[in-house]
Amino acid sequence: MGLTVGVDVGGTKIAAGVVDEKGQIVATSRRESPAMDSEAVEATIAELVRELKKEHAIEAVGVGAAGFVDVRRSTVLFAPNIAWRDEPLKAELERLTDLPVVVENDANAAAWGEFAFGGGKDFDDFLLVTVGTGVGGGIVLDGQLHRGAFGVAAEIGHLRVVPQGRPCGCGNLGCWEQYASGSALVRDARERVAAGSDDVANLLRRAGGRAEDLTGPIITEAAQDGDAVAVELLSEVGRWLGEGIASLTAVLDPAVVVIGGGVSEAGDLLLEPIRQHFRANLTARAYRPELEIRPAELGNKAGLIGAADLARQD
Ligand code: BGC
Ligand code: NA
Ligand code: ZN
Repeated sequence: MGLTVGVDVGGTKIAAGVVDEKGQIVATSRRESPAMDSEAVEATIAELVRELKKEHAIEAVGVGAAGFVDVRRSTVLFAPNIAWRDEPLKAELERLTDLPVVVENDANAAAWGEFAFGGGKDFDDFLLVTVGTGVGGGIVLDGQLHRGAFGVAAEIGHLRVVPQGRPCGCGNLGCWEQYASGSALVRDARERVAAGSDDVANLLRRAGGRAEDLTGPIITEAAQDGDAVAVELLSEVGRWLGEGIASLTAVLDPAVVVIGGGVSEAGDLLLEPIRQHFRANLTARAYRPELEIRPAELGNKAGLIGAADLARQD
């Protein structure tokens, strides 16, 4: 099979790309995600695919969706940050695009992308954590994507980390993604502004003076320019991530943990706190081999590339 399209559907944006057999992206296109309108999300995906189909000979489409995908890779059972409930995404998109479609969880697709073409290819057992609107997980065990009995394994964003904690889009309280995601980062920044602390003046200026216009990329840029509050906000998210990854390591014993998703673009500003708090919380840390935590080699393109490859294999 020649070219396929990979689509990464997140809570804030939808990115599509034409990908070849070697995992190389030939063309891309993206839109804002109308996340709270499931039909509009489908229409947007179809529009992106049709746009790419005009210029390229596309044979199939793989969609990485930010939600619980059934074992047949057809239906999004539930999505905490998008309005999908029992959504027959495969059937709808096949109708709208006239191409064969395979649906996979976005973080699973990213893990597959890293395994096939990126930093996971030297390892048969690894965990990928995506940090974006939510926190996603992809587990590769013995060189296979671990999907679980019902297709919904590795929903690590919904591990309870705080009893009676913040409400989550999944309906529970205290889920990891309420503390360790890009949404948590932005929420914390806005709360600091609302609390009237004056160390946020620089950060606020970057958002044009409006707290509601603060975004993850703005916070990351500020941190890269040395803004102390932005650095602290990122390292707080990193602390939550590092602690959670230490717990996950107790279950999975991966060879390496790969960090992807939009917030991972902050690089060491996020990774160093993750590593520090991972080490500090890893059980039996002085007596067990220490694994590496590294950024996704394919960056935030891992999901799109992985989804495209899954479509090719299907
Ligand atoms: C969803 C996952 C998804 C993750 C990252 C979570 O809220 O439950 O299915 O992989 O966000 O997008
Ligand atoms: Na997953
Ligand atoms: Zn949750």
